Amino acid sequence: MSVQRRLIIRGGRRIEGELAVQGAKNSALPLLAAALLCKGQTELHNCPDLSDCGAACRILTSLGCSCRREGRVVCINSSAVSGSEVSERLMREMRSSIIFMGALLGRMGQCRLSFPGGCEIGSRPIDFHLDAFGKMGAKIREEHGCIECTAAKLRGAKISFPIPSVGATENVMLAAVLAEGTTEIHNAAREPEICDLAGYLTRCGARISGAGTGTVIIEGVKELNGCSYTVMPDRIAAATYLCCGAITRGEILLTRADIASLGLVVPVLEQTGCSIYGFGGDSIYLNARKTLRAPQQIRTAPYPGFPTDAQPPLMALCATLPGTTIFVETIFENRYRHVSELIRLGAKINTEGRVAVVEGVDRLTGAELEACDLRGGAAMVTAALFAEGVTKIGKTCYIERGYENIEASLKSVGADIRTG
Ligand code: UD1
Repeated sequence: MSVQRRLIIRGGRRIEGELAVQGAKNSALPLLAAALLCKGQTELHNCPDLSDCGAACRILTSLGCSCRREGRVVCINSSAVSGSEVSERLMREMRSSIIFMGALLGRMGQCRLSFPGGCEIGSRPIDFHLDAFGKMGAKIREEHGCIECTAAKLRGAKISFPIPSVGATENVMLAAVLAEGTTEIHNAAREPEICDLAGYLTRCGARISGAGTGTVIIEGVKELNGCSYTVMPDRIAAATYLCCGAITRGEILLTRADIASLGLVVPVLEQTGCSIYGFGGDSIYLNARKTLRAPQQIRTAPYPGFPTDAQPPLMALCATLPGTTIFVETIFENRYRHVSELIRLGAKINTEGRVAVVEGVDRLTGAELEACDLRGGAAMVTAALFAEGVTKIGKTCYIERGYENIEASLKSVGADIRTG
């Protein structure tokens, strides 16, 4: 990861053309962890080449798996898992490393890891994960920043989350597929990535029903085999590139994309005046060559609500549309870190707690910015495409955690963007 590299963007160029969307980071990471449960070879296709995926592969290797990447295919062989401890250094590389907890418990009956790293978008507790593992019979010890879980025999349990958590739902699924008996997850997260994980595990021999609904039921099986599986398209990268198209009043065709997984992003972009439709099952077309207007209110919510991850790039777009948009961020308490940077470009945004009021302006001007987190960084890139003159964005390592070669992608559709 290079902290020094900057993205240099000269705004004002219309985004026009065709762009293939990467595989979903938020699906690839749990799938890589899930491969640990399979006594055999997994071939993961369309696996995005991102620093977080590299970190997940390093964790797998440190646990005794073999893991190699050829282009967008990652091959994992988990026949000989020898470790159950993830080092603090590897845990710090990404927040999602917590997902290895369920997989290690399922495969090894024990795990030891430190509290996870990742983006600073809120406190991001893991109490739902730990409570659920406890219900499944794991003994949990927390000391000196480390969590140790042991379960001589993991057994199915009835788990009900206070609010739907994506990571906790995935972690329990991973622990439950090889547990004894049946696990019921109530108030489960319904995100498309949950369905992708269930799809992979089912192909490996797991018995899961209800993924994508609020109740997921997993019947434990004795063993899982590896398989060949294709990671779903990244709905947040797709939403970001659609915002890039819209902010430059451009026209973009996203291929290898799934409009159905975008949920409320589509009607919100339609409210702004963009034409957007999916066709052929794997393409999304957006046309913003018209007068756009600000949507009135955006409230982030668990799927199928408006995704919190798409809030920052959408805010960048709204900052340039006539009218006022009120954002209410209901998922993470610290997810407006990009606001101060957008203001440096000339945006008019006021925040108070979980509410941000965005008054559209007709002009932004380039400035020197610093990415603060992954999606906040994407918001800065989006805004920079509209801003007059040059915007330089530092700390691009945050952006690289979630966007595969964002520079080449945007350049291919007409942006004036380079690194330096
Ligand atoms: C995942 C996504 C992230 C996305 C988020 C919400 C991955 C790798 N990351 O994060 O990009 O922004 O879903 O869609 O898939 N909570 C608790 N206790 C817990 C767990 C969660 O209180 O034990 C709370 C969180 O603080 C948050 C809410 O539940 O307010 C939802 O978080 P969660 O769905 O768990 O997010 P992640 O899985 O971390």
